[in-house]
Amino acid sequence: MKKRLLALALAGAMVFSLAACSSGGNDAPATDDQGGTSETAEVANKDKPLVWFNRQPSNSSTGELDMSALQFNDNTYYVGFDANQGAELQGTMILDYVKANIDTIDRNGDGIIGYVLAIGDIGHNDSIARTRGVRAALGTAVEKDGAIISDPVGSNADGSATAVQDGNLEVNGKTYIVRELASQEMKNSAGATWDAATAGNAIGTWASSFGDQIDIVASNNDGMGMSMFNAWSKSNKVPTFGYDANADAVAAIAEGYGGTISQHADVQAYLTLRVLRNALDGVDIDTGIGTEDDAGNVLTDDVYYYDEAARSYYALNVAVTADNYTEFTDSTKVYGPVGNQLDASAHPEKSVWLNIYNAADNFLSATYQPLLQNYDDLLNLKVEYIGGDGQTEANITNRLSNPSAYDAFAINMVKTDNAASYTALLNQ
Ligand code: BGC
Ligand code: CA
Repeated sequence: MKKRLLALALAGAMVFSLAACSSGGNDAPATDDQGGTSETAEVANKDKPLVWFNRQPSNSSTGELDMSALQFNDNTYYVGFDANQGAELQGTMILDYVKANIDTIDRNGDGIIGYVLAIGDIGHNDSIARTRGVRAALGTAVEKDGAIISDPVGSNADGSATAVQDGNLEVNGKTYIVRELASQEMKNSAGATWDAATAGNAIGTWASSFGDQIDIVASNNDGMGMSMFNAWSKSNKVPTFGYDANADAVAAIAEGYGGTISQHADVQAYLTLRVLRNALDGVDIDTGIGTEDDAGNVLTDDVYYYDEAARSYYALNVAVTADNYTEFTDSTKVYGPVGNQLDASAHPEKSVWLNIYNAADNFLSATYQPLLQNYDDLLNLKVEYIGGDGQTEANITNRLSNPSAYDAFAINMVKTDNAASYTALLNQ
């Protein structure tokens, strides 16, 4: 409660400072060579609203937040989701499935429940959290310096790997061993991480070395999970678990996909654009978020929270399984409580430059971007969407050659360490 009051007070102070430097909107719109229009041409690029999303500025080896990027200016925020809460849910979802299906789960009947794990990006905090969540729930986690090791083990047929251990699981009076048979970062030769095609190949290799020792397939996301499901687990009836609640994965639950986690992309996509809208309007940052706006949009704290110290909004996750998947079939539908159109005279059109780090990423391209495209209309934002190649920051930054043409920026980095590649362009 105290935190929220402080947040409101700070937000109030920020409104004041933004209002002081905004032009008021009476001037003729400035046009530029990229065809964008801007009514706030006098605002320096370094003072324009900026939101980081999906990849939180942070050190990719230690996870430490990059506070200089998160506090780039008074109108800078991060929007993501609670990685630890989601990771714990994913682990629990898998464990619950194992317990409920204990009579059939051990395919070769050797008393060992074997699983393989597809890791997205060893330097991405979401990926790290999910690997830890699965290992923690299944009893295979090993700690080092107070944290669960999240490294891939490669192959662990005999259980001798040191990054994981064999877990023990007692169900109905019988004790089973749980073993991480194999895990690998799914990075392709060009350097793209969370790579679905790589996962589709890996499951082939794993299946030929482990065969019916594999009882469960776990994945850091649905893109990789579905690739493995389609290549192998569906026909071999091996439950496969992912993350993101992409529409194809939710639909596959009817065909034996074990389950997924919704990271409430519908709430995140809204927040991504909403914080920019509020900053551009010069209103309290909580408008249409914790406080109902003039169109009736408001979020409740069961779907998100704000961490003022980290300048970060986090959506909360929900497990999607055979019990409830029919409520999640349309992953690109706007979230009802924030689906109201803003009035264009009170909230005039503004232009936003936004990039997706990898145009081939299933979650971002099939779920997140379509949601953003639904909300941009509702919020009267004209958004230019730039799709990166998932490999180099330059592929994206090259297309931000004229930041003066935009009123605000939304950035999805290739690597969480690279915020400065973007802020350097805004500082020029
Ligand atoms: C998603 C992944 C996605 C990654 C990209 C994660 O939050 O769960 O599916 O590949 O973001 O940064
Ligand atoms: Ca077995």
